[in-house]
This record gives sequence, C-alpha cells and structure tokens, in this order.
Amino acid sequence: MIFLDNAATSFPKPESVYKFMDAFFRRSGVNPGRSGYDMCMEAGELLDNTRKLLCSFFNGRDPNRLCFGYNSTDALNLIVFGLLGRGDHAVTTNLEHNSVLRPLYHQEKYGGVEVDRVPFDRSGFVDPGDIARRFKKNTRLVVVNHGSNVIGTVQPVREIGRLCRERGVLLAVDASQTAGKLPIDVRADNIDVLAFTGHKSLLGPTGIGGLYVGQGVSIRHTRAGGTGVRSAEHLHLEEYPYRLEYGTPNIMGVAGLSAGVKWIQDKGMDSIEAQEMGLTAELRDGLREIEGVVLYCQDDLKNHLSVLTFNILGMEAGDTGTMLDVDHNIACRTGLHCAPLVHEQLGTDKIKGSVRFGIGPFNTREDIRAAVAAVADVAETARKRRASSRAGS
Ligand SMILES: Cc1ncc(COP(=O)(O)O)c(C=O)c1O
Repeated sequence: MIFLDNAATSFPKPESVYKFMDAFFRRSGVNPGRSGYDMCMEAGELLDNTRKLLCSFFNGRDPNRLCFGYNSTDALNLIVFGLLGRGDHAVTTNLEHNSVLRPLYHQEKYGGVEVDRVPFDRSGFVDPGDIARRFKKNTRLVVVNHGSNVIGTVQPVREIGRLCRERGVLLAVDASQTAGKLPIDVRADNIDVLAFTGHKSLLGPTGIGGLYVGQGVSIRHTRAGGTGVRSAEHLHLEEYPYRLEYGTPNIMGVAGLSAGVKWIQDKGMDSIEAQEMGLTAELRDGLREIEGVVLYCQDDLKNHLSVLTFNILGMEAGDTGTMLDVDHNIACRTGLHCAPLVHEQLGTDKIKGSVRFGIGPFNTREDIRAAVAAVADVAETARKRRASSRAGS
C-alpha cells in the first residue's frame, strides 16, 4: 500500500512513537497527577513535560495555557462556544473545515451570533484586507484555517492577526494541517488561540490534540467535571489548564504526541518540509502532464503544504479513488474533505468533490512515480470511456 492520505492522518508514525507509547503504557499508564505513588507521578510528569514541550514548540509564554483535549475539533468547539455569545459577530473563511464551520453555524442558528465568511482568491489565498473590511463594532473573533486540507494553501495569519490586534478582535487559528509542518510562533504571528490536532503532522496517535490560549484571553466554560485537584469546589476551576480540561486525560495520546514532536525536532522541521515539498512539486509536475487531469490551486507551491487536489475529466472523485485503491494499491482521500465551502467556491461540489493526495515524511520518490503512473492509467481509462460514449451517442 502506498499511503498518500497523510492530510487525513499521518501513517506510519515514527518507530519511536510506537516504542515510547508501548513502554510508557506498560510502565506508567495510569491516571496522571491524581495520587502520590510513583507511576502516577511519572504520568503527571509526562503531562507537564509535554505541555512545556508544545508550549515552546509554538513559542507560547505559559505552559499552563497549553490545554489538552481530543483533537482540533474539540479545541475549536471550546473556542467557538466559549468565546462567542449572543450579539457577537465573527469572521471566518470559505477555507474552513467543518470543525469550524459547524460550530459557527450552530452559533448562528441557536446562539444569536452573526457570521461572515470570506472567499479565497483564484490561487487559494484569503486577502487579510477582505477580513478586516468585514469588521464591525461587535466583531469579537476571527477564525482562520492556517493551511487548507483541500488545496494546501497557507494563509497569511501574521498579517490577519496584525489587523485583528488593531481592532481589538481575537484571532483563533486552526493549525490542524500546519502544526508540525510549518513553524508557528503564537506571539510573532499575533495568534490569540491556536487549535492543534496530534495525529496529523505532529505524528502522534488519534484522540489527542488541544489548544494554546494567549495571555489575557478568557474562554468561558462550556463543560464542567473532574480536574483531580480542589475537588470540593462546586464550579469548574477558572485557572488554565484545568479551565479547559475535563476528566481523565488521554495520557497514552500525550505519550505518543510527545514522541512525535521530539522526532520532528530531531529531524528538523525544515528538512522534513523541504523533502515533502520536493515530492509535492514532482507529483504536481507529473499530474500536470496527464491529459484530462484538472489540478486546483497548485500553480505556485510557495506558501503551500504537501497537499494536492485534482479530478480526472469525466470521472467522479470517488471512482478515481476506488480505482487508485483497488487497481494500484494507493490510499488517498476523495469527496468534500469536510470542507464543503471550498468545493462550493471551486464548483467541485457539483461533481462530488475531488481526489486528494497528502504527502508525509515517509513517502518516497518511488511512491510519487507510482502515483503519477496510476493516475495516468485511470485517466487513460476515463478517456476511453469518454470516447466510447461519444461513439455510442
Ligand atoms: C483543516 C482542518 N481542520 C480541522 C480538522 C479536524 O481535525 P480532527 O478530526 O483531528 O479534529 C482537520 C482534519 O481533517 C483539518 O484538516
């Protein structure tokens, strides 16, 4: 199997991730920080150390403001429901994943929040000025997808954040696709809240993610429960990280995530990125040469992730994906990729979305050559089908 679905989740994980999770679970896989015995202390230390690791990875100021949850969907729900209330206005983009779109639709329908959605340009980028032009007196929050999981474009969050700061508007960034791939500096990039997921480019397992909350940002409680400390208090604790953490944490996920981040740091994020983008350019160039292949927003790979999306004329994306899987043993993702507005804007919603290749750190040039050859083969089948249907009509 050639795995080109790394934008959905990275696979495989580095060997050190599997090994550390296994060793840690056997040795200290208990409820962290709730008691004083050694195993519990070790689990608590892992939690604290991983908070520090990720806080510094994103150049945050205070590790206690790095809160763990299940994934970025979880984090974005805490953000959208905990920052916006009746009478507020929010601005977002057409590039968003449903983990942003749906909480905002819910807030619009049930929460008395007004939302503006900004389109992207022909190359797949949002103009920061377009966001700022939507600001009103009651604008409280801007939510932006840092890197598109469909077309791979990376948005200028630093400039968007600068404009937000000028107007006292909070900026939340969905870093699901970029955390672990691109340097993120919450302070220099003017990010108030950052949502991340552990299982994509941070190379951890599924079910772990979280958010970093900048100084001075207060996210209202939208849940309550156990924290393991100050149990007699009736209300959920105010201070971070407890404020946004509820119940027993996914300590195994934290173990895997810490090993994933360390692997990235050992290899160097720049060199991983350079290797992936080299393969992406090769894939893009190969696909461009194939008659009948339509690529979306891939002309310039500057400010771009190793994510490519395309269609083959006359083929539904799902059928292309099935042929790539069954006939060529290639795993990819097809459909709307949980980002329906991207497809609405591209017009690909009418043809059931697109095919996506996501390149990860373990892909090779052989994988890319095989993928190009496989797409050429599917495109040839599609051409023959088109020709025979023309002859039949
Ligand atoms: C841009 C973006 N945002 C959010 C998510 C949601 O991530 P998770 O399912 O880990 O919460 C994804 C995952 O595909 C994504 O690509």
